[in-house]
Amino acid sequence: MMFMSQEKINAAKKALEFVKDELIIGLGSGTTIHEFIKLLGKQVREQQLKIAAVPTSYDTQLLAMAQGIPLLQPEQTPFIDIAIDGADLVAKDYLIKGGGGALTREKIIAYEAKEFIVLADEDKLKRKSYPVPIEVVPFSAFFVARHLAKEGLRPELRLAQRRLGPIITDNGNFILDTDLKITNPKKLETELKLIPGVVETGIFTKFSKVIIGTKKGSRML
Ligand code: 5RP
Repeated sequence: MMFMSQEKINAAKKALEFVKDELIIGLGSGTTIHEFIKLLGKQVREQQLKIAAVPTSYDTQLLAMAQGIPLLQPEQTPFIDIAIDGADLVAKDYLIKGGGGALTREKIIAYEAKEFIVLADEDKLKRKSYPVPIEVVPFSAFFVARHLAKEGLRPELRLAQRRLGPIITDNGNFILDTDLKITNPKKLETELKLIPGVVETGIFTKFSKVIIGTKKGSRML
C-alpha cells in the first residue's frame, strides 16, 4: 500500500492545469505521478480529450493503460509537448531523480520534451542531500563501482525487495546508489557519463517549471 500525502495530491492537481487537448505528454514515474495519472485518466474519460502519453516505466504504463489513457511508443511520436514527473530532491539548478529506478527513461523523455514540469513537495525542497543513482550496464557494475570508490565514494548496488539480488531496471541494467556531493551539477552530469558502462545518472539539470504541493494547495517555484 503506497502512502499518498495531500501535498503530492495537490501537486498532481495543479499539473492537470497544464494539460491541453491534443498534447503528447511524457508521463514520469513514482507515487506523485500515480496520482496525476488517475486525475488525467478521469479528465480524458469525462472530457473525451485527445491526448496521448509516452510512459517512462512499465509501472506507469500499466497504470495509464488501466486508466484508459492512449499510449504511444517513442517511435510513434515525432515530439513530446510536455513531460510531467516527480523528483527526490529539488535544488535551484538541478534535481535528483531515480528513487523508483526509472531514471534513464525519465531523463530521455524529460530532455526530449518541449517543457518539463516537476512535481514535488516541501520535503524534497528542504532536502540537502539524497543518494544519486547511476544506472549501469551489469557487466560494468564492479568497474564503475571501483572507479567511484577511488574518488572516495561508497557506491551501493541497489538490491531488489521480494526478489534475491540486485534490482533490474526496465532497461535490463543495475543501479548503483552513490553518496556524491553535488557542487557543479552540469559538470558532474557530463563527467559521470564518460565512465564506460554508465547508462544514465539521476542528476537532472534541464527542467522548466516546479510545482510544490502544499497541505492547502500548491505554489510554483
Ligand atoms: C522514479 C523517480 C520519481 O519521480 C521520484 O522517486 C519521486 O517519487 P515519488 O513521487 O514517489 O516521491 O524519479 O525513478
